[in-house]
Amino acid sequence: AFADTQIKIDASKTGPVINKNIYSQFTEHLGRGIYEGLWVGPESNIPNTRGWRNDVLAALKEIQVPLLRWPGGCFADEYHWRDGIGPRDQRMVRVNTNWGGVLEDNAVGTHEFFDLVEILGAEAYVNGNLGTGTPQEMAEWLEYMTSDSKSTLAELRRKNGRDKPFRVHYFAIGNEAWGCGGNMTPEVYTNLYKQYASFLKTPKDNTPILIASGGHTEDTEWADHLTKNVKPNWALRMDAVSFHYYTLPTGSWEKKGAALGFPEAEWMSTMVNTLKMDQFIINNKKVMDKNDPEKKVGFYVDEWGTWYDVTGDDDPGFLYQQNTIRDAIVAALNFNIFHKHADRVHMSIIAQMVNVLQAMILTDKEKMILTPTYHVFNMYKPFQDATSIAIDLKKVPTYKLGKASVPSVSATAARAKDGKVYIALVNANPNAAETVDISLAGVTVNGVKGQVLTAPEMDSHNTFAEPEKVKPAPFEAKANAGKLAIEIPAKGVIVVAVE
Ligand code: AHR
Repeated sequence: AFADTQIKIDASKTGPVINKNIYSQFTEHLGRGIYEGLWVGPESNIPNTRGWRNDVLAALKEIQVPLLRWPGGCFADEYHWRDGIGPRDQRMVRVNTNWGGVLEDNAVGTHEFFDLVEILGAEAYVNGNLGTGTPQEMAEWLEYMTSDSKSTLAELRRKNGRDKPFRVHYFAIGNEAWGCGGNMTPEVYTNLYKQYASFLKTPKDNTPILIASGGHTEDTEWADHLTKNVKPNWALRMDAVSFHYYTLPTGSWEKKGAALGFPEAEWMSTMVNTLKMDQFIINNKKVMDKNDPEKKVGFYVDEWGTWYDVTGDDDPGFLYQQNTIRDAIVAALNFNIFHKHADRVHMSIIAQMVNVLQAMILTDKEKMILTPTYHVFNMYKPFQDATSIAIDLKKVPTYKLGKASVPSVSATAARAKDGKVYIALVNANPNAAETVDISLAGVTVNGVKGQVLTAPEMDSHNTFAEPEKVKPAPFEAKANAGKLAIEIPAKGVIVVAVE
């Protein structure tokens, strides 16, 4: 078939490992993300484990959350860790000035967060407070979490119920320093970063990977300035620079676009905007490759995903939004981009895990639904820590609408830890199926087996009344003389293992 996309995969041509932390999650003290969505408290009628709701825990275990970031976001730069330790009924009550001005009773603090992380078997990413904190407060939080000594802070942790130190895998010094984190210039932040980082002293076996807060969207100045001016030495480390990019259908923060009932023009502009992630990473890699040719510093896209207008009675500060098959396509396209840049992008964190922005799970009191985005995370699980494989796409058809266009087909391949070769295929065209002809070298192929996710409407989604409207179905195809012809349905994602 002449018009088909031609894909060549050579399993012997391997690239970098796709860090499992590409599939990371974020939970901020924001809206119903933590309180209600995850935490109901030990006294709740909703079945829970030490306060964390069991239904949500089970669903999250299924997608193998590799890493969890907490407590923000913008919230992190106003978070004082001492507010969240000790008996819960005596904790400081504050106003959440970033998100809806609601009361924050600090029921979830350091101990509860690590309980969640340990239940999920995930790594912990703690975001420190640079904006309204001090180097002393930050250093003491790390001492509280990581010290195995008999210091007063380590003893306080023990008194609060935790004998052994918590394992802090990642620690970030501030968040969005260019915005809610302090409206700083890269110069000011870089100097502060060096100051704060110099005092973060932890035991050798519990040294977190240190993350500097970087730029967003088309910016490359932050990654450039940081990697040029922070020259690690025995007393200073910088292991990664973060980057944030959100997909807004219209591209405008004033009127972002609706989660449901949107026109095809906004399907298209969502695809156009989300695919910009590729160029943004390429641009940042270019400056980082110049300043750090040995690729010692990681580029962490630690906030990404769709951001729509809040609708109805929902508090605009809660960032609650529905999640459709469009979000599933956005997730898969971004994974394919992150895989391509696995040499530098060692972490990406979708915002956010439950009830906030492009969530995996939505809850309503005791009810819970899995979103189309959740299903994509589940389907892509084999790519966690898989070894990327060279893939070559030719004759990719274009999906056009008016003056806008994007490639219809996106694909990625990797050899997973189970030894099998996995292929993921995405069709961004909401109107027509696309056939791809795949030839594989370096692996014998009888056929492929896996799952397909698609839905009838551009905004098909799950509701509490109909929780299984959008869900994956089994998918199988037989090879013909070592070749595969696979039809990807309109607005479809396929992930298969080569058998
Ligand atoms: O994810 C919501 C918010 O978006 C985060 O708090 C902030 O870092 C970003 O602007």
